[in-house]
Amino acid sequence: MKKIVIAIDGYSACGKSSTAKAVAKSLDYLYLDSGAMYRAITLYFHQHYINLANPKAVENALADVHITFLHNPKIQENETYLNGMNVEDEIRKMYISEKVSETSALPQVRKALVEQQRKLGKKKGVVMDGRDIGTVVFPNAALKIFMIADFNVRVERRQRELLERNHLFNFDEVIENLKKRDFLDTTRKESPLRQAEDAYVIDTTHLTFAEQVDEILNLAIGKMIEEQSPKN
Ligand code: DC
Repeated sequence: MKKIVIAIDGYSACGKSSTAKAVAKSLDYLYLDSGAMYRAITLYFHQHYINLANPKAVENALADVHITFLHNPKIQENETYLNGMNVEDEIRKMYISEKVSETSALPQVRKALVEQQRKLGKKKGVVMDGRDIGTVVFPNAALKIFMIADFNVRVERRQRELLERNHLFNFDEVIENLKKRDFLDTTRKESPLRQAEDAYVIDTTHLTFAEQVDEILNLAIGKMIEEQSPKN
């Protein structure tokens, strides 16, 4: 079967990453977490006291940032590396979630990452999740998904994720963070989060994890069959 690009966009904590990971595993595709890239840059800017209001400082810092994904055979998953250091756990912490929307609103940051994301997705056979994958990064993706979920369900999911990682957080802080990121991610000037016209909307509020994965796999198989047809 012809390999396709699957773009999964949506609000924070709708289940995009875990679902995308499982879809990629089932199809033997590459999974790319674009949010992890924005988080890694945010960590670098934090560690190096970069002033986001200074475009030159941002540009110089971006030249020093190298993000890679390496497979960890123990957990059978890719992990995020920043300049050779494994930062997979650090970038999920609340202090990064607090700052990531400001960093990702910067045009220079988006330009650098979109370029890298397109390169990584060149080979097809890719599932990428984020906010602008179906609208900006891969506008020609064969399958575009826009995931949504009830706000309270999203809060619960994010709190569970942080508990599983043993990260310290305050319950109200998670609510405020999701609200703030929803606002910043949808209202920013540069490629805001929005549903692509040709995206399938999946509301995960009442779906089990297996159901949401299956729904995407069924759509993906349909798209692969379409791509296989002689007119493509
Ligand atoms: O998916 P996530 O919660 O790890 O993403 C973290 C932040 O990164 C999110 O609040 C907005 C930004 N982001 C983005 O602007 N564009 C993407 N394609 C992915 C994430």
